[in-house]
Amino acid sequence: MGVVRDIFIGLSENKILNDASKQIGLRFGAQKVVGGTGVNDTLKRLADINNQGMSVTFDNLGEFVSDRSEAEKEKNNIIKMIRESHKAGLDAHASVKLSQIGLGIDETFCYNNIKEIMEAAKEANMFVNLDMENYLSKEQSLTILDKLLEEYDNVGTVIQAYFYDAKKEVRKYKNIRTRLVKGAYKEPDTIAYQSKEDIDQSYFEIIKTHLVEGDGFTSIATHDHNIIEKTIRFIETQKISKDKFEFQMLYGFRKDYQQDLVARGYNMCVYVPYGTDWYAYFMRRLAERPQNLNLVVKSLTSS
Ligand code: FDA
Repeated sequence: MGVVRDIFIGLSENKILNDASKQIGLRFGAQKVVGGTGVNDTLKRLADINNQGMSVTFDNLGEFVSDRSEAEKEKNNIIKMIRESHKAGLDAHASVKLSQIGLGIDETFCYNNIKEIMEAAKEANMFVNLDMENYLSKEQSLTILDKLLEEYDNVGTVIQAYFYDAKKEVRKYKNIRTRLVKGAYKEPDTIAYQSKEDIDQSYFEIIKTHLVEGDGFTSIATHDHNIIEKTIRFIETQKISKDKFEFQMLYGFRKDYQQDLVARGYNMCVYVPYGTDWYAYFMRRLAERPQNLNLVVKSLTSS
């Protein structure tokens, strides 16, 4: 399994393939997990999801941008999507990766970009989630979040359960809207749990803490039915109101389960990545779960 994972991670980092994929549009089954390449096709996808009783969060694909003009272009793309989805009356919010709008270039430049996004979101009465990336960018991201929180109440972030200090962090942000995840990046054992067992245990702990200790809205972002069902049992025994939390899953994953949770009366938010930079995202999803290769096979056999 490790070899297959490494192959897909290698493919995700291949610059020639990344550049080429921008020219050809969604291929090889990527359309099942990416909402669209442009604003209009993505808006249609978001509306479809809303019509199934689920809210959406959109993510303009692309990360670790190292060029100022590119970062500004991405910032403008995000603002456009905020305005257009608001105009279309969608139940939507924005997910933003700070590395896409200049975090790796200059912190002040990045802060000014996210401020512009926050202003557009405020006008649209929309929430903005700062996605969390690797540990190296975490401290800078949290500094920016703390600064934004002095001015805005429509911003929140992600806490990654694999970090040893996740529980401390979840207490710090217990009163703001927070997405809780297991954590997606490779981090060393000096700072992060490595085994699935330890990560799952930490994850369930931070879910419980965020749900009961503060009054911030909790987004439980996982495809793991064991964690979800355990959380539901906890919520029922603690009599936690359903409007205090939601489940989140990625677009195209466990669609039946998403609908099942909606039918059981839970809030479900679907995370929809979109844009021409779809290739690395798609390869990483294949690396994470090689069973997703059936998307590729189906796309090749049905055309
Ligand atoms: P995990 O991959 O541990 O799977 C547990 C079990 O669930 C599997 O063994 C299997 O039984 C079942 N399962 C999982 N996927 C399945 C599928 N597709 N079909 C059937 N069964 C399946 N990370 C990060 O570091 N920063 C971030 O900002 C975010 N943001 C984010 C948003 C959203 C909406 C989601 C869903 C996830 C993230 N993540 C993230 C990624 C997250 O940290 C994590 O890497 C992935 O969600 C994978 O872990 P899971 O919790 O889904 O379960």
